Amino acid sequence: MSEENLPARPAHEGGGQVATADNPFADPGLPAHQPRRQDIDEKAAKSSERTVALLFTVSMLATLAFIASFVVIPIDKIVYIWPLGHISALNFALGMTLGVSLFAIGAGAVHWARTLMSDVEVADDRHPIEASPEVKAKVMADFATGAGESQFGRRKLIRNTMLGALTLVPLSGVFLLRDLGPLPEDKLRHTLWSKGRLLINQNTNKPLRPEDVAVGSLTFAVPEGLEEEQHDYQEQLAKAALMIVRIEPDDIKDKKSREWAHQGILAFSKICTHVGCPISLYEQQTHHVLCPCHQSTFDLSDGARVIFGPAGHALPQLQISVNGEGYLEALGDFEEPVGPAFWERG
Ligand code: FES
Repeated sequence: MSEENLPARPAHEGGGQVATADNPFADPGLPAHQPRRQDIDEKAAKSSERTVALLFTVSMLATLAFIASFVVIPIDKIVYIWPLGHISALNFALGMTLGVSLFAIGAGAVHWARTLMSDVEVADDRHPIEASPEVKAKVMADFATGAGESQFGRRKLIRNTMLGALTLVPLSGVFLLRDLGPLPEDKLRHTLWSKGRLLINQNTNKPLRPEDVAVGSLTFAVPEGLEEEQHDYQEQLAKAALMIVRIEPDDIKDKKSREWAHQGILAFSKICTHVGCPISLYEQQTHHVLCPCHQSTFDLSDGARVIFGPAGHALPQLQISVNGEGYLEALGDFEEPVGPAFWERG
């Protein structure tokens, strides 16, 4: 390689190597440090400080605007924004304010680093991964130096506005949690069943009479008034679905279960108490029902207690009777929450 194609010798202050034909990849070292305007002019430094503080303040205001937008703008309001067209005003406002909030924090940090923090370039040799005590001490010393050079302690305006911006920005995430939907309140503790509500055969859609339920059969029932057109049909069905079986009263071992039945007709929740699968496999001879998901087995002749599998609780039983017109009706709601998980929460 000819000498004229080699990099020119940099204007550094010693320490670097000069490229030659024998050593074309010589380390040129670091260029001489050029002080910035802010390093030598306190007025310029003050101006940079104000700019950084302004950016952090903008971030704070944008976060507050985000929260205000969330509260004030109706969810169904549509606006025309060029060039996006017709879009949700709420989504646009949330996106813009959160974007400005995060951008202003980033821009403030970058401006701070470029104009006020130390810009002296430092070369460091590679070292073993495990640091020696001396290196750790040096790191701590360098950290302390860096903290001092960043002027974090001295420039209180920057420090305070930055802390304000970083404190406020997570609020955006907290407010977005409200978009997870309405709070469940005590809805998981109750079902549609109430005193006097008829048991409707899920196949025929007709109210059940005791004579419709033969010994050894398995019937599924839903509460009267539950219509497929309802907006919460699936939600209500998932909680209220019933298994109806008929067992000779003398074969029912659990006393309370026998009292809550009507002439041997028992109504149990169809929702497995393990993780909530619908149960549908019934063994006539043993009165066992089997959950197809993880094989939990419940004995319907003994209060639906668990006799096998991972379920931790018996299936809740619904107390039933017959009304004046001869139809099966509920005598109230389940006494405990149906399905899984709630049991452990107390
Ligand atoms: S959901 Fe029924 S056993 Fe797991």
